[in-house]
Amino acid sequence: MIDPFAAPPSLPLVAPSILAADFANLGSDCEDALAAGADLLHVDIMDGHFVPNLSMGPAVCAAARKSLPDTFLDVHLMVTDPDAYVDPFIEAGADAISFHIEVREGSDARELIKRIHGAGKRAGIALNPGTPAERVMPFVDLVDLVLVMSVHPGFGGQSFIPEVLPKAEMIKAALRRDQRLEIDGGISPQTAPQAIAAGFDLLVAGSAVFGKTGNHRAAAIRSIRDGSGAAPSPMTRTSSV
Ligand code: DX5
Ligand code: ZN
Repeated sequence: MIDPFAAPPSLPLVAPSILAADFANLGSDCEDALAAGADLLHVDIMDGHFVPNLSMGPAVCAAARKSLPDTFLDVHLMVTDPDAYVDPFIEAGADAISFHIEVREGSDARELIKRIHGAGKRAGIALNPGTPAERVMPFVDLVDLVLVMSVHPGFGGQSFIPEVLPKAEMIKAALRRDQRLEIDGGISPQTAPQAIAAGFDLLVAGSAVFGKTGNHRAAAIRSIRDGSGAAPSPMTRTSSV
């Protein structure tokens, strides 16, 4: 299993969001994305309350853990009550668990980070496009990653919001080399170059990866990683996520 923090294989890392995977063939679609060059997998958890969508629960994370024992699972809790979900996802085999600053601040956030670390997992804090970077700064020294949303959370396949890019400057300056700055939403070969240039080094890409098939998937991962900004390939599977 790669260590995205202390010893990442290379940066930026590419983490396809399984929200955009083929749910009827989740294991094989994830294996295919990893074989196509993905470094880890991003697991989007939605409660239908913090965001207007329901996605998957701990059982899906546990199934992914069972069929992909050596894959780093980066769980993103888009939920109003992250305290209720931390233990179930620790048990389900999550390697990193991120929660949103919009629902937990101050000592509650510090408590939650401590709980995640206490279970030997990595902790992340996420912020929505409308939340200023200042809100996460009190926690930057405590977490392993900061997750900047570049779409309004709830659905895959949305358009990238470039206005979030300037947040990287303040956050990145406060991060150590073993901490990651993650961007999530609308990342594709076309938008990755500006995210990488802004300082993001962990790139979540759902539809841009799982919406592709065969060697176009590997090409998409390559061009996201190297920021080459390749033109979109013709082979695109329409994913209704
Ligand atoms: C949105 C999720 C994102 C999304 C990314 O709420 O947090 O991770 O699935 O999907 P794309 O890359 O298709 O925008
Ligand atoms: Zn996400």
